[in-house]
Amino acid sequence: MKAKAISPAKVILFGEHFVVDGNSAISMAIDLPTTVIIELLNGRNIEVQSHDLGVNGTFSPSGELLQCSGENAETSLRPIFEVANFALRKFGRDECGLKIMVASKVPIGMGLGSSAATAVATVSAIATIFDRTLTKDEIFDAAYSLERIVHGHPSGVDQATVTHGGLIVYKIGSAISNLQVTAPPSLIIGNTLKRRSTGDLVGRVRRLRDEDPGRYNRLASEAQRLANHAVDAIRECKDGALGALMNANQSLLELVGVSSPELENLINAARNAGALGAKLTGGGGGGCMIAVVRESDSIEVSRHIEEAGGQIIPGTFAATGVRAYMERN
Ligand code: PMV
Repeated sequence: MKAKAISPAKVILFGEHFVVDGNSAISMAIDLPTTVIIELLNGRNIEVQSHDLGVNGTFSPSGELLQCSGENAETSLRPIFEVANFALRKFGRDECGLKIMVASKVPIGMGLGSSAATAVATVSAIATIFDRTLTKDEIFDAAYSLERIVHGHPSGVDQATVTHGGLIVYKIGSAISNLQVTAPPSLIIGNTLKRRSTGDLVGRVRRLRDEDPGRYNRLASEAQRLANHAVDAIRECKDGALGALMNANQSLLELVGVSSPELENLINAARNAGALGAKLTGGGGGGCMIAVVRESDSIEVSRHIEEAGGQIIPGTFAATGVRAYMERN
């Protein structure tokens, strides 16, 4: 018997970084799947395989890596072991051994929520193999509390988006609000292919905030104002207004030092090709940018992003979040 969970990825439309200090962020799930399959094993070890990375390894319950193969296997596999070990303890099943197989279409370290998707799918699949039905809030809480132990100050926006799916407004400590839309904005996602660490970028913004809290607070209030207007623009399908708000949000992200020449190159290419607006998405410093476009301009905007050296990520709106079920063969 196997349990399988599939999670979407995510893009942040507004409010990244400022969300860590209590602002609202708007984010959207995208249909780039991360699939986690779980089988019960005899014994108490946890075997982890990542199909795409070509790595596998076996961990003892105390976290000792007993064997592994593939390049950088431990770095890639340990976070998955930590999630699984945490979930086993949470469900009171730490006497069990597991085999975990992960396959993902989400590029790692590019701001599309790959680690949140893996964590949320792993928690959901482990719950399912033990016949536990978790609410979305419980899945989110498990993935978020682990992320807090591992990364210090995450806002939880990534975990919330891939758990709930759709378009959400996220604010730490508030109920998640799902934006019901007749048509989600038409987005192009461009990857700079420059990998970076979200933790380092969050640290950079924290230092800037501590050095000049007055300036930071003014930028944060402006980011909140933009997010509020963006909620209305999304609900009313006003993509022109949404694009202008995205451009303004990009300027704030440049002022807090998380943009990069690679991102600005793709953002400018998109704007010059007729995008209604464009900005970085996620932690910044590299990773991905998004552009909001009229449907009729999407091919042209994509072509310009590619000509500027970017890779187009083929993700579109995902209405549902993580889902899990048993496979009986
Ligand atoms: O992990 P990323 O690059 O998708 O960024 C997450 C968004 C941040 O606001 C930068 C961090 C956070 O915890 O909200």
